[in-house]
Order: sequence, then structure tokens, then C-alpha cells
Amino acid sequence: MTQPPQKRLYIKTYGCQMNVYDSERMADVLRPLGYSLTTEPAGADLVVLNTCHIRERAAEKVYSELGRIRELKQARAEAGGSMTVAVAGCVAQAEGEEMMRRAPVVDLMVGPQSYHRLPELIARAARAGGERLAADFEPQDKFDSLPEERAVDGYSAFLTVQEGCDKFCTFCVVPYTRGAEYSRPAEAIEAEARRLAAKGVREVTLLGQNVNAYGGGLAPLIRRLACIEGLARIRYTTSHPRDLDDALIAAHAEVEALMPYLHLPVQSGSDRILKAMNRGHTAQHYLRLVERVRASRPDIALSGDFIVGFPGETEADFEATLALAREARYATAFSFAYSRRPGTPASAMPGQVDPEVRTDRLHRLQAVLEEQQCAFNAGFAGRTVKVLFERPGRHPGQILGRSPYLQAVHAEGPQQMIGQVVPVKITGVARMSLAASVELEAA
Ligand code: SAH
Ligand code: SF4
Ligand code: F3S
Repeated sequence: MTQPPQKRLYIKTYGCQMNVYDSERMADVLRPLGYSLTTEPAGADLVVLNTCHIRERAAEKVYSELGRIRELKQARAEAGGSMTVAVAGCVAQAEGEEMMRRAPVVDLMVGPQSYHRLPELIARAARAGGERLAADFEPQDKFDSLPEERAVDGYSAFLTVQEGCDKFCTFCVVPYTRGAEYSRPAEAIEAEARRLAAKGVREVTLLGQNVNAYGGGLAPLIRRLACIEGLARIRYTTSHPRDLDDALIAAHAEVEALMPYLHLPVQSGSDRILKAMNRGHTAQHYLRLVERVRASRPDIALSGDFIVGFPGETEADFEATLALAREARYATAFSFAYSRRPGTPASAMPGQVDPEVRTDRLHRLQAVLEEQQCAFNAGFAGRTVKVLFERPGRHPGQILGRSPYLQAVHAEGPQQMIGQVVPVKITGVARMSLAASVELEAA
């Protein structure tokens, strides 16, 4: 077989872990055509921006990056070369035509469900002499069309098991950009996980916008994957409180490979606001769930997402959110100021909250969450935890990894420990990371 000419591919990823997975798969789709990844857009033959539409700022970043890419494309053309610019992901899906109009530098657009068609679109655009093309939204046949072969970089990998969302929270664009809920067959997921394990992957994180809405149940899938030799750790994200079933709670007590970490967004602690958000749960329902998870797995690291300044949110509503955060005790959590997204029901609601109020509330909530994160990590001083070391650190002799609770851990240790799960003693704690010393005889 003759080798196709070598071409350089630059991919920039915005947004959630599902986009990280998709970017890796785009590289897999393009590799047989001779594309290999480069870390710089200058001089690339193909630039892909894999975009996120979740908040206004996320979408704006794409347009400013396209401005930079336009100059590089021009420079490339002046040097006698060419650069194809593709926009993928959720902005492409949400703003397709508008983006084509606003950003003439874009040659191709593919939504999250159609990136397996990149090779075809690139070939068609080349043949048509620069015609600009957009792939339609075609749900569901993507996974069947992706190559089995996955390039693996490191010991921890993402694996998309579920996509899309039918929940329609009133603030959120995901049901529009990612389409309806769809679960991949368990056989396909297991096969992909086995191939990853065969390449040395020790940890998989199962991904879905509502991963615990996985058809057939997430717990049985986790138990199935836990049997794969070599896979030491299983994680999953993101969960919805409405889909956290007893079987999953029980799995946290029973499945050794399932890590004690749960990302369970609540968004607000006010029932009035939760109702306006169409979340389908109350603050009490959420707190009771957390209690049940802790009864099953007392050491679970709880994580979550919050939105402050949702339309109509009063000071009292916000204080209910602070109270919920204090009661739930997060190991770590993400919080955002409400961002008005075109086309979502909340964007047309009365009582939009002033930006200064949103920012003030965000800072107050973050102060509570940061305190909780410090307290969670402080509890580890002097303890022994198992760390999956994943890569060398910045300093010579340093290695970096993650605890079962997803804390970043750095240690002085031999490079051979990279790729292994090693018990280490925690010698230093900070808000964002832990320091550890390696007990060599334990390795
Ligand atoms: N599927 C996940 C969340 C996906 S979006 C879930 O249901 O939990 C990730 C987070 O972004 C959300 O949990 C929410 O906290 C935040 N987010 C979504 N839309 C937002 C908006 N319009 N403004 C601010 N934050 C938003
Ligand atoms: Fe968005 Fe709600 Fe669906 Fe999560 S559950 S993706 S927040 S609509
Ligand atoms: Fe963003 Fe799309 Fe993920 S909007 S958060 S990239 S699903």
C-alpha cells in the first residue's frame, strides 16, 4: 500500500470532556488520510476548532480564535501553501449558517454527530475548488462509522457511552446542540474498552451528558467493564440526580474498580429556581440522594455544578444555594454565572439578574466551595492513598497522578511508576493538589 502524503492537523478543543473524546476521534478518522497532529496552527494543512456553545464566552472565544487563524491562513497562502479551516462541535451545530456568514475563513462545518464525515467533506471541498460545506445533523450513525483503531496517549482515557439530552433544563443549549439521548450498545463499549486496556490504559472515564441515563443501566455496564483485565479504575461523568438509581449507588459499595467520586450537578438550592430551571428535583431530593450515596460509600468525593443569577433568583434563593452547598459538603465543585443563551426558554424569562449581582453571588459561592475543597484535602494529610501515576512532572524526578478521589498528586519517584497504581503517603496538602512520598517497598 502506498503511503498518503503527510499532512499536518491542528485541533483545538473547547468545552466538556465529550469534546475531548470527539477531538481524539477526529484525529483517528483523519490519520488514514495522512494527517498527523501538530501543536501549532501555523503551517497546518487542516485546522479544526472543536467548539462549545454552553455559555456566551465559550462561543465568543471561537470567533476570536478564527480571527487569529485567518491571518495564519493568509500567511500560508502567501507562502504558496493552503490551509483548510473546519469548525466542529456545538457552535457549528447551533450557529451553522450564521457562522459561515460571520467568518468567511471557515471552509467546513461539522456538528458533533457528523464529524465522521470529515474526510468526505475535505475531499469534496478540494474538488469543488474551495466550495464551503456544512454537514447536516445526522444522529446516531457516527459511532458505527468511526474507525475501531484509537490512538492512545497515556494511561487514562475517555470513552463516550451516551450522548445527547432529553431533559431540557431551561437554561441549557445541550439538548439542541447534541440532540436526543442516545446510548451506545454495551458490546461496542466493552470492545472499545478492551482495545484501550490492551494498549495499556489503566483508567477509563465513561462519558455522557447524562451518563447515568445510560440505556440498560449504568451500573450493569460498569460491572461488565470492571471484569476487563488491566483496567484498574472506572469513572463516569456527568450524572443527573433524576437518573441516579439504587443499582448505581450499590455499585459504589461493591465494585472495587469504581472510583469514589461522583459529579452530581444540582445547579441551585432553591426549589422555586429548580422548578423554573425544569430540573425535575428539589433541594431535599438532592440532599437525600447524597446521603444515600454516602451510606453506600462513606468516603465518596462529591462534586457538582451550580448556576447563580438564574432569571428571578432573589437573595433568599441564593442563600438557599449556599445552605445546600454547606450541607452537601463538596470535595470540589464548578460554579457559573448564568449566561443567557439564544433560543433557550430561560433567555426569555422575566427577572434577568444584573451582571454585578451575578458576579457577586458567584464569588460568595466560590468562597464556600473553595473552603470545602481545602477542608476535604486537609483530611488527607498523613494518610496513604493509591495513586495512578500518569506522567512526568515539570521538575526532574517528579511524577504526577490522581488519587481515587480525582485529586492531583505529585511525588518524587521513579519514572517506571508511571502507568502503575501505587500506594503513597500524603505529606502535603493544598487546595488544588496533594504532595506525596513514595514508599518504594510498596511498589
Ligand atoms: N449534562 C450536565 C451538564 C452539562 S453543561 C448536567 O446536566 O449536569 C455543564 C454545566 O454548565 C451545567 O451543569 C451548568 O452548571 C452549566 N451551564 C449550562 N448552561 C448554562 C448557562 N446558560 N449559563 C451558565 N451555566 C450554564
Ligand atoms: Fe443541559 Fe440539563 Fe441536559 Fe444537563 S440535563 S445537558 S444541564 S439540559
Ligand atoms: Fe459545550 Fe457542547 Fe460540551 S455546548 S459543554 S461542548 S456538549
